[in-house]
Amino acid sequence: MANPVFPQAIIARKRDGHALGPDEIGSFVRGVVSGEWADYQTTALLMAIVLRGMTPEETTCLALTMMRSGLVADLGGVAGIKVDKHSTGGVGDKVSLILAPLAAACGVPVPMMSGRALGHTGGTLDKLEAIPGFRVGLSLSEYAAQLQRIGVAMIGQTAELVPADRKLYALRDASATVESLPLICASIMSKKLAEGIDALVLDVKFGRGAFLKEKVRARELAAAMVAIGRAMGKPTRALLTSMDQPLGRAVGNAVEVVESFEALKGRGPADLMEVTYALGVHMLLLARITASPAEARRRLEAALTEGRALAKFRQLIAAQGGDPRVIEDYARLPRAPVVRAVPAPATGYVVDVDPMAIARAALLLGAGRGNAAAPIDPAVGLADLKKTGEAVIAGDRLCTVHARDDSHFDAALATIGPAFEIGPKRSVPAPLIDEMIE
Ligand code: URA
Repeated sequence: MANPVFPQAIIARKRDGHALGPDEIGSFVRGVVSGEWADYQTTALLMAIVLRGMTPEETTCLALTMMRSGLVADLGGVAGIKVDKHSTGGVGDKVSLILAPLAAACGVPVPMMSGRALGHTGGTLDKLEAIPGFRVGLSLSEYAAQLQRIGVAMIGQTAELVPADRKLYALRDASATVESLPLICASIMSKKLAEGIDALVLDVKFGRGAFLKEKVRARELAAAMVAIGRAMGKPTRALLTSMDQPLGRAVGNAVEVVESFEALKGRGPADLMEVTYALGVHMLLLARITASPAEARRRLEAALTEGRALAKFRQLIAAQGGDPRVIEDYARLPRAPVVRAVPAPATGYVVDVDPMAIARAALLLGAGRGNAAAPIDPAVGLADLKKTGEAVIAGDRLCTVHARDDSHFDAALATIGPAFEIGPKRSVPAPLIDEMIE
């Protein structure tokens, strides 16, 4: 019989539906970071958590133990109320790339710790790394100094900051153990609480392209994260937003960077901008830039139309070692050898765009990882996606595929075809912004 602190004993207890105590959770997180737990033991426990769930006490304990797996940033020396935003993950969700510089341009200090591609969703870090030279692995002191100097920093989990999430995140991505309320909650809140925020805005997705598809589950997740944030003295708000079709018109890495630049130049797709502004308003309110939602929105729009948000992104890219010339010259971004349009098979209206099928196509092209150590291809993906409700004529472009070769194009095409439903009647997508949990 194994000692209760042995990995197999902890795995067995969760497998059998018991709640784990703080000692067991502590032993797990320490073992993951030190390497004492083998990857197969870690993924076995992750799967047991997916299947058996966790109590609110276990979830909070996991989040806080993961937060303490490394250093906790002290940004007390940086003036202002530091506010971050985090999404639970969607298809084509590049909001962070637009919102971090936009909120910073409005005077909100934004310390942002993001993730890589996870499951069927893309990752902010992978997208940023499509920019030649961009470094997401800043040291804690570089991160704090940059935030002080330019008001925004975008980094990833490191050996210093939340190393437990770095390891667990990669294993979850490759072991079908992402779709779990406690694991998503602990992953996000450990990062947010370690990065030195004063307040937090969460974008909790529901719908076919989200990890938790049902709105009630998304609401539960939002409530759990808001409760942990508040318990730790960090005012936290969550917006429930619909993820029933890809957000914007691009899904991939370099293609989403281009769409983010376009958005910051005032040419962003309406749905992407709606979510960006809605979250941005709450960032400005929490940072006490203004107490009026209408004034917050006006300031965000002014920062964008006056070019201040784009200038902030340029400053951020340069500060983190990236080549800011990509903003004017998209040819400096990684480019796929095969770029080909997918024609509409019929005339009518786009009635539906299945986000999971589009995500699968992006994964088949190489935009995500098959296993924890696999590289992603920053150049591949889909762009120019038609949206639900738009009219098409047979032969019109439904999207553009960026592929590494013909065989990858063909594999993606087999998935993209059925992703689009075209019918005779115009359908109106459901509202994007649903409710706020505070
Ligand atoms: N974002 C994260 O950081 N973690 C998750 O588990 C899901 C989305």
